[in-house]
Formats: sequence, C-alpha cells, structure tokens
Amino acid sequence: MFPTNPFTPEFGSVPLVMAGRQSIRRELFDAFSQGRGNPNLSSILIGPRGSGKTALLTYLAKEASSEGWVAVHAVAMPGMLEDIFEQTRLACANALEKKEAYTPPQLTSLGLGPVSVGWAASPAPSENWRTRMSGLMEALEGADLGLLITVDEVVASLDEMVRLAAVYQLFVREQRRVAPVMAGLPSNISALLNDKSVSFLRRAQQHKLGTIPDPDVREAFRETAAIGGRDVASNALETCVSAIGGYPYMLQLVGFRCWQASNPSGVISVEAAKRGVGDAREDFRSHILEPTF
Ligand SMILES: Nc1ncnc2c1ncn2[C@@H]1O[C@H](COP(=O)(O)OP(=O)(O)OP(=O)(O)O)[C@@H](O)[C@H]1O
Ligand SMILES: [Mg+2]
Repeated sequence: MFPTNPFTPEFGSVPLVMAGRQSIRRELFDAFSQGRGNPNLSSILIGPRGSGKTALLTYLAKEASSEGWVAVHAVAMPGMLEDIFEQTRLACANALEKKEAYTPPQLTSLGLGPVSVGWAASPAPSENWRTRMSGLMEALEGADLGLLITVDEVVASLDEMVRLAAVYQLFVREQRRVAPVMAGLPSNISALLNDKSVSFLRRAQQHKLGTIPDPDVREAFRETAAIGGRDVASNALETCVSAIGGYPYMLQLVGFRCWQASNPSGVISVEAAKRGVGDAREDFRSHILEPTF
C-alpha cells in the first residue's frame, strides 16, 4: 500500500508542517505564557484567501492549551455570542470535571450588608451574556485556566462583533484572563476597524499574513514530503517553490498534485513536479479563480 498523501489542500486544515509564520507564532506563544498584560493577547490576523488564517488560529489554540488556556472557536455570523457561550460551557465542563457532565454554578442573588450569595445549578434566564461568561471565566480562573476566543471570518456588519468588542473591554477592566484572537480578509478587517463602535479593537495587535519566503516554503515542502516517505529531487523542488510563490494554499495544492503525479518510488522527480504544477494551476483556476471572479 502507498503511503497517504501528506499534503492538505483543504481550506481550514492545519498543515503537517507549518511553513514560515515564525514571528507571529513566537509573539503569540509568548503572550499565552506571559498572560494578562501582553498586548498580543488581543490580536487580529489579516490575510487574503488561502493565506492560512484559519490554520493559524487552530495552530495557535493548540499552542495556547499547553500554556493553560482553553480555546473556543467561533465564526463571525449571527448566533456567534451564544455559540461562544455554549462552547465555553462545554470547555469548562471538560476542563473542570473531565468525565462527568458539569453544570457551572450560576449567580442567582447577591445581597449587600451581610453579604449573601446564592448559586443555582441551571442558568437563570435573566442573566445576560456578559454575566454568564464572567461566571464561566471565574470557574476557569479557579482552575488556573484562561479563555482564548478565536473568531474567524470577521465581518464588520455583525452587531455581535461590536458587542463582543465592548464586553471584552469590560473583561479587561475586570482583569479576566481572556484573549480574543480574530482573523479576516483585509477588506473586512479595515471595515471593522473603521466602525466607530469598535474603536477598542483598533488597539488589538494586527498581524498581516503575507507571502512566505522561499527558503521556508522549500523546507516545509521537503519536510512534508519526507513525512509521507518521499524525497524531492533538488530541481523538482525548485520547480515547485517557484510555482508556489510563497502562497500557503498553493504549497499544499502543488505538493498534493506532485505527490499524485509521482510514482511511489520514493522520489518526486522533475517530471512529476512539472506535471504536478500544471495540475495544481488547473485546480487553482477552477477552484479559486473562477468561483471568485
Ligand atoms: N503556514 C502554512 N504552511 C503550509 N501550509 C499552510 C500554511 N498555512 C495554511 N496552509 C494551508 O493553506 C490552505 C489554506 O489555509 P486556510 O484555510 O487556513 O486559509 P485562510 O486564510 O483561512 O483562507 P480563507 O480566507 O479562504 O478562509 C490549507 O490547505 C492549509 O493547510
Ligand atoms: Mg479561513
């Protein structure tokens, strides 16, 4: 049986080998290990289609989990805030109770004077999103965990984006251990940042996902093929690197097609590379260019 193709030309999938992006990975990793106060905890990844935003969000969430953060992933669309709440509730249950289902306590009454606090097992309908999230974050903080909220495909037109930005500002004032990391296309992000009601987001760190330098592409291509058990002839590698042009989606597409075009002899030859590049360009035209334009 031939080894499985190790390239992943599929939107949203984390590549087996992440090419480049070292500085943003380092900065975000430092932010997760340092915690509160690090400006990168609130970050926006900005890049065109196929530049690797979704893959990077998933990758960063994994890194964050090793530093004591639980991650919830949302896409900017109606219902996003409830989705974030539900996922946080589940993440909380997993983190705090491991196996048994966990219903986090809900604050139902708070008296002043001789202080009295009441807890109930199920959500009180009168609580708003902010209060419910605060309750969960408190439970997470009790277990020394922070909350990473990733929001993909950011659009400015969504009211819930505005609410999230506003509430996040309050969470920061309350010293919550929370990190929103968002991602979107350049035009959508600039529209969002121009919206007066989310001026706070303008202070988030912006990370532009540009093209990946050729040496990083070369290394990632070779390493990915090696994971599948194949070498790449050096002139074949150059053919691929120049066709990829630093574009992450193309790296996966070219790799995938070259792999398919080569026989399982253990080497991707220059002939296979040429055929693979041709096939990848054809895929790119029919899957990306034609539907987009
Ligand atoms: N740094 C990288 N190195 C290698 N491959 C990558 C890298 N980043 C992303 N990819 C691959 O590129 C493809 C596109 O990635 P992804 O879906 O994350 O892009 P995107 O920016 O979210 O696109 P869209 O704007 O359409 O949502 C996927 O096949 C993914 O595996
Ligand atoms: Mg994406």
